[in-house]
Amino acid sequence: MKQTMIGTWKMAFDGIRRGAAVLREQSVKEAILTAIQDVEQREEFVSVGKGGLPNIDGHVQLDAAYMDGKTLNFGGVIEMENVASAIEVAASLCGKHCNCLLAGKGAEGYAQEEGFAFANNLTEASKQRWKQAKKDADLKAYDGHDTVCVLAAKDDEMSAGVSTSGLFLKHAGRVGDSPVIGSGFYSDAMAGSAAATGLGEDIMRGCLSVRVVDLMRAGIAVQDALIQVLDTHMARMKQAGNDCDAISMIAMDTKGNCAAVTNLKEFPYVVAQDGEVTLMVAANENGVHCCFPADEAWLKQYSGD
Ligand code: GLY
Repeated sequence: MKQTMIGTWKMAFDGIRRGAAVLREQSVKEAILTAIQDVEQREEFVSVGKGGLPNIDGHVQLDAAYMDGKTLNFGGVIEMENVASAIEVAASLCGKHCNCLLAGKGAEGYAQEEGFAFANNLTEASKQRWKQAKKDADLKAYDGHDTVCVLAAKDDEMSAGVSTSGLFLKHAGRVGDSPVIGSGFYSDAMAGSAAATGLGEDIMRGCLSVRVVDLMRAGIAVQDALIQVLDTHMARMKQAGNDCDAISMIAMDTKGNCAAVTNLKEFPYVVAQDGEVTLMVAANENGVHCCFPADEAWLKQYSGD
């Protein structure tokens, strides 16, 4: 398999570039950790790791997961506070037969026992953002960028990793799609990998990631699998009287072919292959999907992470 990485949002660009360099010498796990930790550690990216979006009580609680597509092992953490790298802890749980998905104080206790670094992720900026939102009469959940998802492959290895602080002003204990296997992520080296970003509740309603992987297993091309799953889910949600909130997805097949899909107007993502890192855009114009490389003009008008 070609050495390949794909990550969600423009914020993943530097991490994917660094991860792709690591992938040349090391495992897909090291490459994914490098890429995701780059985003986790940078305070300017407000929905992941340090400086993440606080919950309604003003706590930054992190969700992350890692899945090894060769063994189908996975690990995840839910609502974990004050740990420097959620993806690092999640990845360390991957391979445990039991106890591979830990939540809250249990996850923090495990991180402490295992000697992972702790840090205060509630930066001054995230505190101010929370205080300002609490002042607003109409408390609105953040509807912008959220999870950093990274898929990587090399030789016969293929894996997926995700990390997020979850929905802004979420209820204490609320869990989104990101640490939920099959919804926020799935990886099977015999079929492909997929991951999702957007409103977790709507992603979980369709178990979207495993459905994309299963279509690739059945021989459907990566872009077609993504479009088929998203469009079918949107139509089913509509039929049920539910408006689908933001959903974007990335996927990779077993040959390293990558694609993305979105129900937003545009969704940037990053692909690294053959030594080149490219910022791509998945677009949706009235239900018509396409992907294209971001050019200077596109970059000039884009203001998101
Ligand atoms: N997609 C992340 C979340 O809903 O928490």
